[in-house]
Amino acid sequence: MVLFDGVANPSCLIPIEQASEMKITTLEGLADENGNLHKVQQAFIDEQAAQCGYCLNGLVIASVALLEENPSPTDAEIQAGLYRNVCRCGVHSRVIKAVKRASNS
Ligand code: FES
Repeated sequence: MVLFDGVANPSCLIPIEQASEMKITTLEGLADENGNLHKVQQAFIDEQAAQCGYCLNGLVIASVALLEENPSPTDAEIQAGLYRNVCRCGVHSRVIKAVKRASNS
């Protein structure tokens, strides 16, 4: 999952010729030029919202896109916004806490 012009999408679903015209932001590109983590990355750390890390990239990128669109989402809006991202380890409640922490709520 990466951001294509600010919209989260699985990188494997966008044809390369279409992507070449877009601004692409990866998980590594979220930190600022001084290496400070994006507030969503820091919130995921603070809430320990990952175990194995398999889902982490997609959840963080989807959360960044969600908060850009809706800076103060409800729990239901977070669940709806992250519907494509499944965590097999079951840390979904911590993910919601992390998104809330990073939000303006
Ligand atoms: S932390 Fe393991 S799949 Fe989410």
